[in-house]
Amino acid sequence: MTRTDYCTNLSVAEIDRKVTLCGWVKRRRDLGALTFVDLRDSSGVIQLLFSGDDPDLAAAHTLNREDVIAITGTVAPRSEGNVNPEMATGGIEVRVEGLKILNRSATPPFLVEGDGSDTTEETRLRYRYIDLRRERMQRNLLLRHRVLHAVRNHFSAQSFLEIETPVLTKSTPEGARDFLVPSRFSPGSFYALPQSPQLFKQLFMVGGIDRYFQLVKCFRDEDLRADRQPEFTQLDLEIAFPRGKEEILVLLEGMLKTVFHDLLSVDLPTPFLRLSHAEALSRYGTDKPDLRFGMEIHDLSLLVKESPFRVFTAAVAGGGRVAGFNAPGCAGYSRSTIDRLQEIARSGGAKGLSFIKVKEEIVSPLSKFLPAATLSSIVKEFSAQEGDLILILAGKGIDQALGDLRLEVGRKEKMMKEGWNFVWITDFPLFDLDEEGNLTSEHHPFTAPWEEAITMLESSPLSVLSNAYDLVLNGTELGSGSIRIHTRELQERIFRLLGISAEEAEDRFGFFLKALEYGAPPHGGFALGLDRLVMLLAGAESLRDVIAFPKTTTGICPLTAAPMPVDHTHLTELGLDLKEIR
Ligand code: AMO
Repeated sequence: MTRTDYCTNLSVAEIDRKVTLCGWVKRRRDLGALTFVDLRDSSGVIQLLFSGDDPDLAAAHTLNREDVIAITGTVAPRSEGNVNPEMATGGIEVRVEGLKILNRSATPPFLVEGDGSDTTEETRLRYRYIDLRRERMQRNLLLRHRVLHAVRNHFSAQSFLEIETPVLTKSTPEGARDFLVPSRFSPGSFYALPQSPQLFKQLFMVGGIDRYFQLVKCFRDEDLRADRQPEFTQLDLEIAFPRGKEEILVLLEGMLKTVFHDLLSVDLPTPFLRLSHAEALSRYGTDKPDLRFGMEIHDLSLLVKESPFRVFTAAVAGGGRVAGFNAPGCAGYSRSTIDRLQEIARSGGAKGLSFIKVKEEIVSPLSKFLPAATLSSIVKEFSAQEGDLILILAGKGIDQALGDLRLEVGRKEKMMKEGWNFVWITDFPLFDLDEEGNLTSEHHPFTAPWEEAITMLESSPLSVLSNAYDLVLNGTELGSGSIRIHTRELQERIFRLLGISAEEAEDRFGFFLKALEYGAPPHGGFALGLDRLVMLLAGAESLRDVIAFPKTTTGICPLTAAPMPVDHTHLTELGLDLKEIR
């Protein structure tokens, strides 16, 4: 029995045609002399009808979910009343003349149909090969395949070379821990799996490759979330002699325009909106603003800095600010909802939340401390209407808390409009401070500072801006890139500022510093999180829905049970000994 068709390629146009179909039993219904079986293949589902007392078809009564069968039969219209407009093939069925059971299935641990809510995600991942039969997973993997192809074709047509970079390599600092691989030939030494191909792509530029891209696996040992996996795929690219960052932004916009057009028939307007890092923080409280809704943050410092309310005046005098946003129609929030917002503000680093309920009269704990005129000017600042709720924070470092509150209210009130709100975030600071107060790279140490600011590197490092840019889509960071440092001298200065001694720099990055001495051209690039892009395109909530064999949030693969202990001999060969692990 050789397959002639896929289930859903058949329609009323094929009535009376003899066909051979192969697939899985979705379900069986026995109605006396008639047995209906829904047959599923990669294209979808069709109804089979077994009738009569042909002994060759008797086995139809024994068919169970997920048994694998081949059938021959004739396409026929469904009887009146039996038509199912919900199904692509709902007007037809195949009257079966021959049945071959190719393989029996054990009782599956969950239903392939439905949304998976009849089981846990852990079980779905343990039996991922069954879960992959689910329509949503088939659709997501097809989408992923199409994105990969569209990206490849796009860059290939623009004279980019796809070149692979090593997986067993040396640490590339991207802010996470490395996954290490012990070496048998050099006991006590380890490869690191690449957090990104950053240094190799820069070496391509030194090597005279003009335009490079790669769809590449990256590995990061970090705390996992819905949009983070320990191994993930980047669309990585780099170009030599760029016309500033502009050329790279335009290249990325062009690629995304193609992908959205070809896959979703959506015409993305370009150029994408741009916001400086400072502007994003002050207006949205985050460098990953979700622009599907407004509720912009306004600075109120000027309005309140001379008010009698000490909390506000002290915040402004101490170098912080007073700022807030207007939540339209939220004046009815209960005490407990406001308490919940208080908690969010606190965990975002703010001290306390003030609010103004714009009702017939203004209802606010601030009435005790602020004159009515100041309260009205705040209401006016937001053009707030009756029924609105103004949320206000004061102090230093309140941006994140404001951003978190804005998101919380936006989600709660379902304000996110359908759409693809891309925004470039530019003009990041080159450095940030870590918890111990030491300078760290805001992106990575290979990012070029603004040329005009190079003289301030040592004197005022925190005010130096970088040539880095992030791409954000609907509040998710899709990718990031920069113009790079291409001289040894400047690269060494940056390492020094980061507290990396000359010896350490030589040890960790000596090969790279050397390459910068041999005619490294100006260059810049970008890396886009491919899994995140597919996740958003698929309307999925988690990367796990668009990766065939993902890990759980604790980094475990329930299917293979990796990671696993290894036996003693193997460890000895690698020159390793394990401490007792409690
Ligand atoms: P960055 O570290 O910002 O930049 O990574 C680029 C993009 O990769 C995606 N990403 C992830 N996706 C899933 N799981 C993860 N754990 C994960 N970590 C990162 C994100 C992110 O925006 N070498 C630089 C790029 C460059 O400068 O060219 C880099 O890797 O979408």
